[in-house]
Amino acid sequence: MAQLKPNLWIRKNKTMTPSLRDADSGLQNEMAAVNEAINKLIDRLLPQTDLAENRLFSAMRHGTLNGGKRLRPFLVVHSAALFNVDPARARRVAATLELIHCYSLIHDDLPAMDDAALRRGKPTVHRQFDEATAILAGDALLTLAFEVLSEPETHEDPHVRCELIKALAFSSGPQGMVGGQMLDLIAEEKEFDLGTISRMQRMKTGKLMAFACEAGAILGKSNKPHKKALCNYAYDLGLAFQVTDDILDVESDPQDTGKDTGKDEQAGKATFVSAMGKEQAKERAEMLVEQAIRHLRIFDGREKHLVDLALYVLARRA
Ligand code: IPE
Ligand code: IPE
Ligand code: MG
Ligand code: MG
Ligand code: MG
Repeated sequence: MAQLKPNLWIRKNKTMTPSLRDADSGLQNEMAAVNEAINKLIDRLLPQTDLAENRLFSAMRHGTLNGGKRLRPFLVVHSAALFNVDPARARRVAATLELIHCYSLIHDDLPAMDDAALRRGKPTVHRQFDEATAILAGDALLTLAFEVLSEPETHEDPHVRCELIKALAFSSGPQGMVGGQMLDLIAEEKEFDLGTISRMQRMKTGKLMAFACEAGAILGKSNKPHKKALCNYAYDLGLAFQVTDDILDVESDPQDTGKDTGKDEQAGKATFVSAMGKEQAKERAEMLVEQAIRHLRIFDGREKHLVDLALYVLARRA
């Protein structure tokens, strides 16, 4: 990490075309490998059947197998790699987290929430199917994730499985993603200060990312300082990620992002952009990414993929 000098990288790359196409080719390869592995696993977890309820599986497949950057799985896989965890186990946990993330997107897009038409370049699940099916597909992905985590194939030690289940429930529930989504909706009607906006973003986005890294540490039975360092990295990265998402909503278009843009302002969402303006929000994202990377120093040069991913979060266009 010492050679990467994140400060310099960030300044230098302000002039570059910021997209994954320009990302470090090592990172591109790693992201492609994780993507392929996760697609295979999800494909196996969601078989098509001749049963009458196959519509539910079709909707779940639509919401999970149509692209996506698979950043959270990447974080699980590369956090686990720091502790030499069996990659097959890490990928399985990574897939369960992606199921939860996809469920959160399906519900986030519903008319009662963000009312979005496009996701990952395709119609949202409720547009492709119908609203009730989208609600059920989200519910089913959520519950399937916990079923998969509880199976011995995830880890032979039941204590490890229980710890994973508890951590994922905490990160995705009322004190995590769902709580953050509630704040996001309340903020449409009520003015939030920057501290509350930060807390909301850390909950709705940061917590699932923190689980991603924590899962690597749990699988690897890591010591406390390593686990804490990873969680701090992910928490800052998660906030930076939501800030860049909010920036993309104002300065990008659906062709690049594959999803509706310009909707946050329309809906009166509280974001870093609405609170401090685009330029300051960009500076804040840079600061958070630098801070995130600093937490990784404890890994003594083995954290390259996680550093590269943090830099990519800043430069991304989708
Ligand atoms: C979108 O997440 C939702 C947010 C938390 C901002 P991603 O940008 O990771 O979505 P996909 O998985 O790549 O589609
Ligand atoms: C959603 O944030 C975060 C979730 C928990 C799903 P956004 O509403 O900004 O995500 P996008 O922009 O629709 O992907
Ligand atoms: Mg939303
Ligand atoms: Mg949304
Ligand atoms: Mg958004």
